[in-house]
Amino acid sequence: MDASQKKRSAAEAALQFIEPGTVLGVGTGSTVNFLIDMLPDVRDRIEAVVSSSKASTLLLREQGFDVKTLNEVGGDIDIYIDGADECNKHLQLIKGGGGALSREKVLAAAARRFVCIVDDSKLVGMLGEFPLPIEVLPMAQQLVSRRLMKMRGHPIWREGFVTDNGNHILDVEDLPISNPVEMEARINRIPGVVTVGIFAHRPADILLIAGDNGVREMRV
Ligand code: 5RP
Repeated sequence: MDASQKKRSAAEAALQFIEPGTVLGVGTGSTVNFLIDMLPDVRDRIEAVVSSSKASTLLLREQGFDVKTLNEVGGDIDIYIDGADECNKHLQLIKGGGGALSREKVLAAAARRFVCIVDDSKLVGMLGEFPLPIEVLPMAQQLVSRRLMKMRGHPIWREGFVTDNGNHILDVEDLPISNPVEMEARINRIPGVVTVGIFAHRPADILLIAGDNGVREMRV
């Protein structure tokens, strides 16, 4: 089974968590795109949809959904479904490969339940092989880069990319993330950092990992 077949299976497995009356948060990326394609099948169970990016909003509208803002639904969502770039057995994640990490982190925080959908290549022993995305204020890019270099990371500016919030992304290589909760807090404290792509303070609640033998469910 190739990676995109696995992504499709993980997305399909997430549909069972959408119960009647669900206010649904939708993430961003190729795995979530499979989910968006399937959402019309469960339309009658969805009370409202909130999106984590302009890209997902566009796709949801193409499927006929009236996308609400988080404020319009009162700041709470029932289920947030999103992919990840890396995950560990504690359901802590690295996200932001698609650059949507800030709105993704807000929706994860607002969700009663966060369901993460991945193919089995994303499961790692220690987070950090995937370059860590960090959204930064453009005027603070050099300051944040220097601070990250002091932490032995190698930040690379994602040149030409502007986030939905008008900011820049640094992808940080070689950062040892032995304690994800601590590293998330430490990077968050650097002035100019908007969001760090470590999702450890608020990890996923349910991880659906698709492999050759089907979809495995992990919970903490
Ligand atoms: C976007 C993300 C995505 O969830 C992450 O990049 C995984 O993407 P894909 O499903 O395409 O592998 O964090 O900001």
